[in-house]
Amino acid sequence: MTDLFTRLVVDPSREAVAEGAILLRGFALSFEDRVLPALRSVIEQAPFRHMVTPGGYTMSVAMTNCGAAGWVTDRSGYRYDRHDPETARPWPALPSSFLDLAIAAAKEAGYADFRPDVCLINRYEPGAKLSLHQDKDERDYAHPIVSVSLGLPATFQFGGPNRIDPIRKYALRHGDAVVWGGQSRLFYHGITELKDGDHEILGRMRINLTFRRAL
Ligand code: SIN
Ligand code: FE2
Repeated sequence: MTDLFTRLVVDPSREAVAEGAILLRGFALSFEDRVLPALRSVIEQAPFRHMVTPGGYTMSVAMTNCGAAGWVTDRSGYRYDRHDPETARPWPALPSSFLDLAIAAAKEAGYADFRPDVCLINRYEPGAKLSLHQDKDERDYAHPIVSVSLGLPATFQFGGPNRIDPIRKYALRHGDAVVWGGQSRLFYHGITELKDGDHEILGRMRINLTFRRAL
């Protein structure tokens, strides 16, 4: 029987993060030959931009999206939009390599039915950070979240259901995937200020792919 508990015990690349949440070290590495060219193509069609929060703060993380809709923020709020506000065109489709990676990671974490419809792409340059937040703009919290790290390492903070809950920190490196759902679907998380460095493939940046079922 290879349930989640058994896999955690026998495989040191699998790390329990919280109830329903698991870190899969290096999981994306076998997909990178397909994922990196696909990423380049998405970024050409929908370039990174620094969005503004409802409070008027320009985010240090640059973002773009692919899939049926994209996560956006502006002075009127956070939402999923079927069109890129910069171009008024639909977001680029989810590349098959992205889908394969997200579905495989979710399955490995015990979420065999996950089918993402959106992917938020975050670009962190040195100094960029993402403050503690919950992912709660999706329609149905029954679906997990799959988060893939590429490029420079970052410190991922994972807390609990309340902002003040104790936080654990995890170093996320190129190829790591984190999946959270179930009991921890709405847990607070964030990324501390990215340290400078030079990644052999991506250079001075970290890219994060966040897959969700949003619509
Ligand atoms: C996010 O919470 O949307 C992104 C987390 C990350 O960059 O790893
Ligand atoms: Fe998030």
